[in-house]
Amino acid sequence: MDKKVVLITGCSSGIGLSLAVRLSQVAAFCLVYATMRNMAKKERLLECVKGLHKDTLDILQMDVTDQQSILDARDRVVEKRVDILVCNAGMGLMGPLEIQSLDSMRRIMEVNLLGTIQTIQAFLPDMKAQDKGRILVTGSTGGLHGLPFNEVYCASKFAIEGACESLAVLLQHFNIHVSLIECGPVNTDFLVNLQKAELGDASLQKVDAHTLSLYERYLQHCGSVFQNAAQDTEDIVKVFLDAIQSPCPAFRYFTSGVVPPLIKLKITEPDGSRYISAMSKIIFSAEEQ
Ligand SMILES: NC(=O)c1ccc[n+]([C@@H]2O[C@H](COP(=O)([O-])OP(=O)(O)OC[C@H]3O[C@@H](n4cnc5c(N)ncnc54)[C@H](OP(=O)(O)O)[C@@H]3O)[C@@H](O)[C@H]2O)c1
Repeated sequence: MDKKVVLITGCSSGIGLSLAVRLSQVAAFCLVYATMRNMAKKERLLECVKGLHKDTLDILQMDVTDQQSILDARDRVVEKRVDILVCNAGMGLMGPLEIQSLDSMRRIMEVNLLGTIQTIQAFLPDMKAQDKGRILVTGSTGGLHGLPFNEVYCASKFAIEGACESLAVLLQHFNIHVSLIECGPVNTDFLVNLQKAELGDASLQKVDAHTLSLYERYLQHCGSVFQNAAQDTEDIVKVFLDAIQSPCPAFRYFTSGVVPPLIKLKITEPDGSRYISAMSKIIFSAEEQ
């Protein structure tokens, strides 16, 4: 059986790194191209594979916001085809909307939305020509329901849902399966790497006191959710493997195994008011007491 050629974006840490390590261990099945924008960060991945899997893992530079770097990485794939494309690179932006600069907001959209789309664009013609392929995208529950103080991040992830769902309808005619792996909180470098307004930052001085107190409450909530309920990257990798190994993969996979209740609420109560009050209560209830 021909090995599947897998290319993954954002492998310097977190989900991408764990997925690259795990897939490179399934030597009978995969050849892995782990890509990252900053090759100075490759030691962490190399340490994780401990010098093993030289035949199944290669590391390439790829910045998803730089079209030339995507095309260069594509051209360095020895097999001249990618069977499984994993669009995983992403970053967060957190804080009151009124302090976000146009540059920061553009950056998030460029990485999370346009970066994902232009990566898919680069590999799509070859997949169509082969009449087969898999595209997996690391989605977020923040792409299915809104989260206060994450407006632009959620907008980028909501947009990914629309782009992927639209593509999935078309690509089934080319035997190309698109799947979103919808993650809740995961223990990665995400919280370290995200652009976040810290309490005490000069940028927050112009924000009104009520918003600031809600933001403080949100940060506490977020900290406790990550501390108590975050999944490990291995849990996420298992879901990726399920999708990759399924002969007929679903469009959406929830890493918690079930549709989270707040997302169900959006479907059962489509006017949205119950979702908004439920989420507000969960995050800000201490503020109201
Ligand atoms: N962790 C969570 O709670 C969570 C929840 C839901 C969804 N997700 C999604 O999961 C994905 C992976 O995030 P993670 O949790 O593993 O966080 P992470 O550890 O911060 O990893 C993010 C990866 O994306 C890379 N990246 C950022 N900008 C890039 C660019 N322009 N080109 C190429 N790579 C770039 C980062 O590279 P650098 O090291 O160079 O910055 C890093 O390798 C993201 O799409 C994120 O939105 C995460």
